[in-house]
Amino acid sequence: MVRLCFFSVFLLINLGAVIVGGDGFSRDEFPPPPGFVFGSGTSAYQVEGAADKDGRAPSIWDTFAHSGKMHGDNGDIACDEYHRYKEDVQLMVDTGLEAYRFSISWSRLIPNGRGPVNLKGLQYYNNLINELISNGIQPHVTLHHSDLPQALEDEYGGWLNRKIVKDFTAYVDVCFRNFGDRVSHWTTVNEANVFVLGGYDGGYLPPQHCSSPFGVNCTRGNSTTEPYLAAHHILLAHASAAILYKEKYQDKQHGFIGINLFAYWIVPLTNTTEDAIASQRAMDFMIGWYVDPLMYGDYPDVMKRNAGTRLPTFTNLESNQVKGSFDFLGLNYYVTVHVKDDPSKLEMEVRNFDADMAVDLRLADIQKDTSGSEFPITPWGLQALLEYFKQVYGNPPIYIYENGQQTPRNSSLEDWPRVKYLHGYIGALLDALRNGSNTRGYFQWSFLDVFEMLDGYESGFGLYHVDFNDPDLKRQPKLSAHWYKHFLKSKGVSSHGFIQLEKNLSALSHTR
Ligand code: NOJ
Repeated sequence: MVRLCFFSVFLLINLGAVIVGGDGFSRDEFPPPPGFVFGSGTSAYQVEGAADKDGRAPSIWDTFAHSGKMHGDNGDIACDEYHRYKEDVQLMVDTGLEAYRFSISWSRLIPNGRGPVNLKGLQYYNNLINELISNGIQPHVTLHHSDLPQALEDEYGGWLNRKIVKDFTAYVDVCFRNFGDRVSHWTTVNEANVFVLGGYDGGYLPPQHCSSPFGVNCTRGNSTTEPYLAAHHILLAHASAAILYKEKYQDKQHGFIGINLFAYWIVPLTNTTEDAIASQRAMDFMIGWYVDPLMYGDYPDVMKRNAGTRLPTFTNLESNQVKGSFDFLGLNYYVTVHVKDDPSKLEMEVRNFDADMAVDLRLADIQKDTSGSEFPITPWGLQALLEYFKQVYGNPPIYIYENGQQTPRNSSLEDWPRVKYLHGYIGALLDALRNGSNTRGYFQWSFLDVFEMLDGYESGFGLYHVDFNDPDLKRQPKLSAHWYKHFLKSKGVSSHGFIQLEKNLSALSHTR
């Protein structure tokens, strides 16, 4: 009999990772662009504002925020990048960004989800892309960042309905056709795993589906089936988009297409076999869920065993379409967690609900639990994660599309926790590259203090503070912006020890 195990996840607070001291490093030690790019990112609903301007229609994130779920905050105005993109691109130039990751708001481009294109939306993204290109900044574009057009959610249930595959493909076709001459990197779906866990399991993200006991604040949903279904449709939609891009555009446009996942590095809590197996199971449920179909055309065996008929199946044709349908994988990495096998919880949980989804819920809970507080810094976790992709999945091209430190909003501009975090993880990335990782870029999250996914305006990840009390939404560089600039622009300059860097930055911040 197969033993269904359950595990608990604990935040790894302190494994003695050394994050400061020793030699520094310089941009020059990484491959030069375009082989490797350093950038920063945002997403449409989190930064653009102008939510009801120039023909944009609501997305599921607008609806979620306006239902009061995010401390009463919403992205109606956010950082108003829609009107201030030129100013922001100049800040990017000043910071030395080589690339900018942003997303296209589907409901700004095609307000009803399908049908007529909104010319003002088209104009905005053309303007933004042109501004980036003319300033030497490479655009990396995400096509869906938690913001499905509400019209499609209302019409047929959005990602729960297979009809989404056709509509998503038609939408991305508009993007490839209109922007693909200048955009070389396309990501179909941001954090495809967290989107379905938060949106259909725990219910703490749009479209807020869940069922008890996994999530308790939903009016609809089924946490034991819907996450699997939504993920299946995301995989099919991604594959359809990738096939379209490869068949119709790639030869002419010479770009690349991938998908984005959230990733913890996971460490067994003890050296018992049970905890090791539980950790592998957690990786399979979090990463293998998407990467196994993309690499091998099917879900991991452990998922099939645990989820049974609730896990949809691929036809041979679909399996072949999904398999290999990516040029790169985008990973968002923030923290390392501990996993402990917990059979006693299984017995209890099995009586009440499905163990495998409970596993997912606990992983998702970590995100909620850590919201608002600073993340522990464990750079070796990023190295280990990249090593895992190297060894288990054959070292595919990877972009670290998000990595950054959370601090309370309106805390000091001298954001040392962020500086230390970035210093630690960029250093770890260099070590990973030296060990043969096929990583092609690093994007700090986030360029500005944006409307945060879990926290609204309570916390921020930005290199630049945005004063939301100022009608002009003034942007001010934090110490981390100076640090990143110093790192990116000191091409050819020899390494700095952290202590020296600290002195330089303090001097800089005091003369600002
Ligand atoms: C996850 C999401 O991609 C992004 O929208 C969010 O703001 C950050 N990571 C931080 O939570």
